[in-house]
Amino acid sequence: MCGIVAYVGKQEALPVIIKGLKRLEYRGYDSAGVALLNDAGLNVYKKKGKVSELENFIESNPNLHSHIGIGHTRWATHGEPNDANAHPHYSASENFAMIHNGIIENYEVLKTDLINKGYTFHSDTDSEVFINFIEDIYQNNNCSLEEAVRLALHKIVGAYAIVLMNKEEPDTLIAARKGSPLVIGVGEDEFFLASDATPIVEYTNQVVYLDDYEIAVIRDAKLQIKTIENVETHPYINKLDMELEAIEKGGYEHFMLKEINEQPRSIADCMRGRLDSRAGRLILGGLRDYMNKFQNADRIIITACGTSWHAGLVAEYLFEEFARVPVEVEYASEFRYRNPVINSRDFVIAISQSGETADTLAAIELAKQKGATIFGVCNVVGSSIARATHAGSYTHAGPEIGVASTKAFTAQISVLSMMALMLGYQRGTLPESKYMELLSELEAIPAKVEKALKLNEQIERIAAQYKDARNFLYLGRGYNFPVALEGALKLKEISYIHAEGYPAAEMKHGPIALIDEEMPVVFIATQDSSYEKVVSNIQEVKARKGKIIAVVTEGDQTVRKMADHVIEIPRAHEAFVPLISVLPLQQLSYHIAVMRGCNVDQPRNLAKSVTVE
Ligand code: M6R
Repeated sequence: MCGIVAYVGKQEALPVIIKGLKRLEYRGYDSAGVALLNDAGLNVYKKKGKVSELENFIESNPNLHSHIGIGHTRWATHGEPNDANAHPHYSASENFAMIHNGIIENYEVLKTDLINKGYTFHSDTDSEVFINFIEDIYQNNNCSLEEAVRLALHKIVGAYAIVLMNKEEPDTLIAARKGSPLVIGVGEDEFFLASDATPIVEYTNQVVYLDDYEIAVIRDAKLQIKTIENVETHPYINKLDMELEAIEKGGYEHFMLKEINEQPRSIADCMRGRLDSRAGRLILGGLRDYMNKFQNADRIIITACGTSWHAGLVAEYLFEEFARVPVEVEYASEFRYRNPVINSRDFVIAISQSGETADTLAAIELAKQKGATIFGVCNVVGSSIARATHAGSYTHAGPEIGVASTKAFTAQISVLSMMALMLGYQRGTLPESKYMELLSELEAIPAKVEKALKLNEQIERIAAQYKDARNFLYLGRGYNFPVALEGALKLKEISYIHAEGYPAAEMKHGPIALIDEEMPVVFIATQDSSYEKVVSNIQEVKARKGKIIAVVTEGDQTVRKMADHVIEIPRAHEAFVPLISVLPLQQLSYHIAVMRGCNVDQPRNLAKSVTVE
């Protein structure tokens, strides 16, 4: 939610900032803006819409040369998407400009106080209140801007990553964070600040992840970090493990398509160095110090949102089947508000691609307070969730830029599958021979994924037939039930077609009323323990003239006779089928969205990382 970029150094700031904003557009694309400081003063340029609209807007402006600047791409929270609500925001004196990612919860109280003092506001945002609150402290305390920021942060309630510029200090940027991410790239006499590392990787691989309640001041090409208690800390410089190609489209029309096609490699990367079936070896470094807690847990609680929650549902089946341990899968947003029973013998797994999802972070904090052990399954290295958990395993899927999650889902399931196998083996619920067999089955998945992706053209033809449908139903059972939910989510979020996912057997308890000759029903009907039952459900839809699109195991003859379309995927152990059966559903939603002219990578109203509650 909102992307921020800032630069100070020897380069022209604007191109660095614009390129960075484009890389961060997945975080929000309601408006974009920059502030630059030069002989013409401290100037803010901002525009409703995408970064390209901002570029058109400033194209012929002669005052854009600067070596310092800040930029913002917005996902609207307070105030509609328009020019006025776009960032950066000036302070009342126009001496300061600020970009902000996050939400200030006490902004109304602060705003009322400021209005009583004579301040006027030009936007509906909490961020404009924030910068004026800082300026008010600056003026009343006769202090430096840095000190005013520090004092203000003691009174601010909510989440923020901010960067400020001061008209009087042409070589200084001041940044702070709490709850929203901020990465500082350290170059040679230059600094890059951004919501994630993607705008930075092109220039330097040395980064500092700012911690909550820290304030960074970059002045005269030097970085100093202090806590809001004014205690200096020593920045730890991390080496970025990210290639530039990983964040570019690489010849694909959309990031989503690229990411769908990357899955054979991303799943293999996820297992690399961890799983070796011939040696019977399965190692997850992050679990090493917590294996005892994991093995002896009374219960596993999985918490996540969206697609990551669907991966958690698959994991419920995996853990219960292989390790015979009770599992609860919780929407993070519900978990945190219903006073859940959690104790120190619970092992909580938090799943998140971005590692920044506000609800998941809050659920982690709650579980921590209750004494549970928290394990993170995250994709983004150094993200807030990765750092808030006791331990964790990265999914190593590489940057996922399309807002619709694809390769992150399969990488999450890969990590969770390895965890379930380890746990089953250690607890003695998986006999050695079965364990060895399952290791080989899992290791064989990337090749099967590669084969399944070749069905793309067939799926594109199916998409052409159903692109104008108004509703879709997705049905599956067992391991394929979460896949049905995921297929429906993919379709609705990028094509805006209403879609529902259901356990196939639940259809007769309500959704069957929706079925007529207009209704496409996607069945995931692979040959597993519930296959016969799903076949009966297909018959029920057929009898009511629904259009049947069935994902089946290759060679299936039974469903072929009933379905309007069959998509044959490679045979795999049923526990690992979701890693394959989800692929045609990702492709189907992708093609339908493209045919409907939708913005596949940046669907309306959405953002990639949801850092607000
Ligand atoms: O970054 P996270 O995995 O924590 O994000 C959770 C959801 O916001 C995310 O999966 C969302 O549902 C995706 N847009 C689905 O494609």
